[in-house]
Amino acid sequence: MTTARKRILTGDRPTGKLHLGHYMGSLANRVRLQDEYESYILIADVQALSTHYEKNENIHRDLLQIAEDYLAAGIDPERATIVIQSRIPEIHELMMYYSMFTSVNVLRHNPTVKAEAAQYGFSDMTYGFLGYPVSQAADISIFKASLVPVGEDQIPHIELARKIVRRFNELYQPVLVVPEVLLSNTPRLIGLDGHAKMSKSLNNAIYLSDTPDEIWEKVRNAVTDPARIHKTDPGHPEVCMVYAYHKEFNKDETDAVAEDCINGRIGCVQCKKNLTRCLNELLDPMRERRVQYLNHPERVTEILVEGSKKAHRVACDTMLEVRDAMGIDYFGEHQ
Ligand code: TRP
Repeated sequence: MTTARKRILTGDRPTGKLHLGHYMGSLANRVRLQDEYESYILIADVQALSTHYEKNENIHRDLLQIAEDYLAAGIDPERATIVIQSRIPEIHELMMYYSMFTSVNVLRHNPTVKAEAAQYGFSDMTYGFLGYPVSQAADISIFKASLVPVGEDQIPHIELARKIVRRFNELYQPVLVVPEVLLSNTPRLIGLDGHAKMSKSLNNAIYLSDTPDEIWEKVRNAVTDPARIHKTDPGHPEVCMVYAYHKEFNKDETDAVAEDCINGRIGCVQCKKNLTRCLNELLDPMRERRVQYLNHPERVTEILVEGSKKAHRVACDTMLEVRDAMGIDYFGEHQ
């Protein structure tokens, strides 16, 4: 007997190029997980409109960009299904059913919704923004995903999805799968400028699509130990961003890097060159894959269209059960 692999679903809003922080925080994990699980990766273009509804002209470009970043990073379309959210309109149908029994106050108190509303300066939240966690519950449950690999900030959304699905199953019939969080416990990647976080808006991001020259330019400007003026000055690796990156991207040589720095045996420029080499070792295979896709953009389109079609069939099957469970498939003509 073959046991079906468990299904996982992850997703991102397409809002720009992916950087090393995304890779270390979630994408590398997804690449690993696609061996073990039946993986669905959702490009949440409709959810992106919840904050970027006036920047709709960017969404097409950002959607292709994120798909290229996934494929370059090693997401394998043979093993993982990449889905465009707007191609599955049934998600919005299911969201509407969920909306009927989801409390507005619960959404208002969702800490991630609150933090994002503050970040975007929303004094008066739109209905779609307030409700996006309900849509996310539909994203997950329409595919009957049992696991959702996410970082901490998404936990309130998955908790809500669990509540909504349980409530649906109690109210109607138990046809939906209650999802669980698969917490990725990788620490957040700091910025080379010393900021606690790498992010596009902080202008400190190293993108997966950066060229070797761009990488060197960014690493060259990284903040090092301010007490070190001359190469022979004893360094303090624990305050140096370049050392923090060696710990992440040059694991085998971390101790040697620290020793050379403490003993003033290596200058910061050389140390930065070494780090750049490590970053390029990670990024080179991604560059090779990216070039292949850039030379065949029709292949990317095909992956997105085929992935979305396959996902659509799964979503339609779930919706037959959903409508039947709710007793609203009045004439049985969908069966
Ligand atoms: N809210 C997620 C983010 O901002 C993106 C997302 C949309 C998602 N639908 C999802 C994540 C479903 C996990 C599961 O990153």
